[in-house]
Amino acid sequence: MNQDIDEVLVLEEGQAPPKDAIAPPRKPRWSDTLNYIANPDRFCRQNLEKYGAIFNTSVFGGTTIFVGSAKATQMTFNGDLKYTEIALPATTMDMFGEYSLFQRPDLHRQRKSALRPGLTGQVLERYAPAIESAILLGISEWPTPSKMALYPAVEKICFDVLVPLLLGVSLNDADPTTFEGLPVSSKAELKALYKTFFDGFYGLLKWKSPFTAYGRGWKARARLIDFMRAVVRRRRTQGGVLDPTVDFLSMMLASQEENPDGVFSDALIENQCLLQLWASHYEISGLVASLIYQLGHHPQVLQRLREEQTEVMGKQSNISTFLPEHLKQMVFLEATIKETLRTLPPSSTANRRLTKSVVLDGVLYKQGCSVMAEPRIAHIMPEYFHEPEVFSPERFLPPRNEGKMYEFIPFGGGVHACLGAQLAMVVTKIFASNLLHKFDWKLTGDAKFVQFPLKKIRDDYQIEITHRV
Ligand code: HEM
Repeated sequence: MNQDIDEVLVLEEGQAPPKDAIAPPRKPRWSDTLNYIANPDRFCRQNLEKYGAIFNTSVFGGTTIFVGSAKATQMTFNGDLKYTEIALPATTMDMFGEYSLFQRPDLHRQRKSALRPGLTGQVLERYAPAIESAILLGISEWPTPSKMALYPAVEKICFDVLVPLLLGVSLNDADPTTFEGLPVSSKAELKALYKTFFDGFYGLLKWKSPFTAYGRGWKARARLIDFMRAVVRRRRTQGGVLDPTVDFLSMMLASQEENPDGVFSDALIENQCLLQLWASHYEISGLVASLIYQLGHHPQVLQRLREEQTEVMGKQSNISTFLPEHLKQMVFLEATIKETLRTLPPSSTANRRLTKSVVLDGVLYKQGCSVMAEPRIAHIMPEYFHEPEVFSPERFLPPRNEGKMYEFIPFGGGVHACLGAQLAMVVTKIFASNLLHKFDWKLTGDAKFVQFPLKKIRDDYQIEITHRV
């Protein structure tokens, strides 16, 4: 699906819409935000069934038009600087801060291009061994046989994978020298600060007080910036030549060294480290835990994945010979991760506010309204996904080739498409590959999910896990 951009009619100030243009169906209701936050899947499904793939809501205040049809999604994703701007709640925008990709549309393209080499493409091959050793170390500590709380176990490992990669610092609680010069003294302290920072994004009251999530988040943000400043200072005092492919921080510091007047100021570097960890940690943890859960539900998929692992990696349970090209060969695993993202998308995409009215396919999207492209609508549309209720990774492979652009949108798309989609896929593949080789697991009934701001299995949900022989 790729519409001609001319199909989107952008109305200039004072220009009347075509006479036959109609507003999207459904009257916004005062209870929409509460219902959406309580269960976004249910909210989207019920309204899709009743009103179709485009409908009005009052989610997050004002009128927010939810869209799931590919053409409306494409229109939504590509309006930056033309007819849309990012419109997130004030607390969220504040927590992002002025150095995020969401805050400054005028600098967005320049900043995003500068960040790209540290998060995409060939550098991921360089990251793969470090990702794998952190995962191997983490899963070696999983007690077996046991009943294990799934999400916390996964989250702990993801933190250990992502902190060195994105913050450029290796911390080890057993070695106090790794904390030297830094304003935190344990990984748990850093993690707790991060959680408070994350929760601050979704605070309801924009009041800087210890009594509000926003106030606490704001304070944690300041402490995390101090932490990053100390990490950078420590790096600089260590001297030596910077290898831009070692981690995300090194990429930015090397670029700054090469061009001191370029994109990378110290403040941008400190903020980007925090923001990329924010963008990735909970999303990837949610995805990996959901994948393990889906495989518990679908033994035939698990079996096929094991066969693929044997084809690609051989039979050995110690897969330390794991190479980047192996990842490319794991096509069924990639399809299974996509199917997990389709069925349990971790998040919605960002809200956009219409700075101008537009008309597409006879529907009028009025200036001042917000638009939100929702994977929870697009991903269950039979027009795009045959038998959407069925968990079927094959749909992403030939000959079916479902999941086209603007139809499969777990990572958003267009101008603000997720910068970490490739990294998320690499981490999840390496995690899954190692689990498939080393463990068997059984579910303990149906899991309950936390629905908002990110979908994730509840902390108390356990799986039964044993070592493979
Ligand atoms: C399962 C993992 C992930 C999911 C589901 C996810 C999802 C998303 C979504 C839905 C958006 C909004 C796109 C839009 O509104 O059009 C986004 C944006 C973004 N994500 Fe991710 N993300 C994931 C992992 C990551 C990782 C690993 C990173 C970086 C380390 C990252 C960095 C970003 C950035 C920088 C943006 C903003 C891009 C821009 O404004 O141009 N994400 N992501």
